[in-house]
Amino acid sequence: MTMESPIADAERPTRRPVLSLRGVTKGFGAVRALTDIHLDVYAGEVVAIVGDNGAGKSTLVKILAGVHPPDAGTIAFDGEPVTIPSPAASKELGIATVFQDLALCDNLDVVSNLFLGREVGRRTLDEEEMESRAWSLLRQLSARIPSVRIAVASLSGGQRQTVAIARSLIGEPRIVILDEPTAALGVAQAAEVLNLIERLRERGLGVVLISHNMADVQAVADRVAVLRLGRNNGDFRIPDVSYEEIISAITGATDNVVSRRAERLNEAERRDEGRAEA
Ligand SMILES: Nc1ncnc2c1ncn2[C@@H]1O[C@H](COP(=O)(O)OP(=O)(O)O)[C@@H](O)[C@H]1O
Ligand SMILES: [Mg+2]
Repeated sequence: MTMESPIADAERPTRRPVLSLRGVTKGFGAVRALTDIHLDVYAGEVVAIVGDNGAGKSTLVKILAGVHPPDAGTIAFDGEPVTIPSPAASKELGIATVFQDLALCDNLDVVSNLFLGREVGRRTLDEEEMESRAWSLLRQLSARIPSVRIAVASLSGGQRQTVAIARSLIGEPRIVILDEPTAALGVAQAAEVLNLIERLRERGLGVVLISHNMADVQAVADRVAVLRLGRNNGDFRIPDVSYEEIISAITGATDNVVSRRAERLNEAERRDEGRAEA
């Protein structure tokens, strides 16, 4: 009988998810928004969460952001069971959420938006220090912002998204949740936000990306978790899954335009192969 050495065990890199959900369930009156959801998010990966309208994506985000308490299930952070009773508790844990409305103050400049509500503490940051920290943060994100002293109202949609994401990093989170970050953006600006998501992954953050855009998901995510009618309906590694498979998991339909088309293509392929063999 062989015994494994405890030293070898200790040296073995154990990959444990930063964030782990098991059996998470949430109802609103008679509506079962989420049922028995499981989800793991590791450091340095982008997990896309996709699903049709009403699938439960926003409810899941709100549970993690401390907006809604779950009715049942467990949430673990670094392997420890936690509760997230408030948005402050979520931030405290190390979860930063960028909601779709961004919650920026249009009339304030970039620096003020980045440090809004963060000037608290033993001492207030002086303007010069905030400005240099703003530039350093934006540089780390390779963000293209012309000036940190212009009102956020005058920035493009992509730049505003960038400011909202940069602001979420000030508390040094471990997990960043982005709710439809490219939904309102044109192609070039969306590409910039996708670059930004890659910077977040490089920094070792776990990124949860809620998105309707399969091209974005396939371009930037490492994994995709599908929700359907409030339940898990597939968890795929992006290199292993096709667009059609993701769509089928989202719609749950074996009979829809997309799956029928995929089926026709497969049949055509099989016919071609048959011919080649003959
Ligand atoms: N605050 C709420 N009160 C009542 N029902 C809600 C509430 N929030 C979400 N729901 C319901 O929960 C289900 C999931 O919604 P949601 O999480 O917003 O889905 P998604 O973001 O995927 O579109 C839907 O049926 C929705 O109507
Ligand atoms: Mg939603």
